[in-house]
Amino acid sequence: MIDLKNVSRIYQVGSGKVYALDKATLHVDKGEFVSITGPSGSGKSTLMNIIGCLDTADSGTYLLDDIPIEDYTETELAKIRNRKIGFVFQNFNLINKLTAEENVELPLIYRGVGKAERKSRVSEALERVNLTNWSRHLPSELSGGQQQRVAIARAIITRPSLILGDEPTGNLDSKTTDEIMRIFRELHQQGNTIMLITHDRAIAEQASRIIHIRDGKLSEVRI
Ligand SMILES: Nc1ncnc2c1ncn2[C@@H]1O[C@H](COP(=O)(O)OP(=O)(O)O)[C@@H](O)[C@H]1O
Ligand SMILES: [Mg+2]
Repeated sequence: MIDLKNVSRIYQVGSGKVYALDKATLHVDKGEFVSITGPSGSGKSTLMNIIGCLDTADSGTYLLDDIPIEDYTETELAKIRNRKIGFVFQNFNLINKLTAEENVELPLIYRGVGKAERKSRVSEALERVNLTNWSRHLPSELSGGQQQRVAIARAIITRPSLILGDEPTGNLDSKTTDEIMRIFRELHQQGNTIMLITHDRAIAEQASRIIHIRDGKLSEVRI
């Protein structure tokens, strides 16, 4: 499903160059659960943004489901993201003036799904993350764990085959982290491909593979 070959992402900083990714090669099959670990600034988010088609490589090749991503325009990439990928971020990235159910509905509006189907899929997704009773609340009225569950419902509403989390439990306490990780494990058991960035060893070990990044270079810790 994910096939990166010698992917580099280079930032010009002042007169020098930063190799945020340095010839990264990675293959992930459909249905795998992979964690990405590494120190701050090692290139984790850069890797995830490229895999999630939010950013593109400066060199190397990236095939997502056999599609060569570098050949696509920004508009086409937005469509690929909407169709294939669900994102969950550390800071939830919810829209503050929309209720939980309106946030979850948004990707379906972008996709042009009709109102009746949107309503039934939104309530299904909110039920999936156990938030049915909170659907009319604004993000500011929800706890961090509840906001992250809204973000997960928004990520899965399009039934993506790939779910990407960039430190999704980074702002949560340990009890809430356990709840969120249980949802990710269930999504994995249902056949989704999951990639999670984490600083937390105990979280990384819940995956079947751990990839470590240091100075933009990948290494496999455990298979
Ligand atoms: N837009 C940018 N401009 C310049 N340098 C950047 C930019 N984004 C990331 N970097 C640099 O690339 C490296 C990797 O960053 P990042 O992928 O965000 O690391 P991580 O997520 O592991 O903390 C860091 O040295 C960072 O400073
Ligand atoms: Mg990061």
